[in-house]
Amino acid sequence: MILMEDIIREGHPTLRTRAEEVKFPLTDEDRKLASDLLEYLINSQNPEMAEKYGLRSGIGLAANQVNSLKRMFALHLEDHNGELLSFVAINPKIVSHSVEKSYIPSGEGCLSVDRQVPGYVPRHARITVKFFTVDGEQKKIRLKGLPAIAFQHELDHLNGVMFYDHINKENPFAEVPDSVPLGE
Ligand code: NI
Repeated sequence: MILMEDIIREGHPTLRTRAEEVKFPLTDEDRKLASDLLEYLINSQNPEMAEKYGLRSGIGLAANQVNSLKRMFALHLEDHNGELLSFVAINPKIVSHSVEKSYIPSGEGCLSVDRQVPGYVPRHARITVKFFTVDGEQKKIRLKGLPAIAFQHELDHLNGVMFYDHINKENPFAEVPDSVPLGE
């Protein structure tokens, strides 16, 4: 299982490297990585497991963060209706997005960043995405709210981008044009 010590932190070059497309069918190693990424998130949101293994709670984890350059990440979170979204996305892409932006008023966090980085991180408010499941099935889904933001945060990891790259350097809390803050 993935532990905090397996998660690389900012400054590690793998976090700044573009991950490579995964080929199908998946190797056993790719399958294990996929299930380990999702398992970490599930464990980290379970108070007993989190306490026992010292896991910081997370809703998304990308392969880069465990020092693997495979284009895959896991998400495990509830949407605004309380519906559980829990999946591994392989070779994910954003196929279209809203003009409207969104951001989390309290800023974003990352399991690879051991500090608070204040500021708004502009994201597309709504996205349509495509990705493959571990079984090679193609999915096309629409996301908004926190799931849309989390998907964009994780996709950035696969491209070597960190959330704070998007924060306005002069004024981290500058108004984001065409945006609605998350939760409003
Ligand atoms: Ni992150």
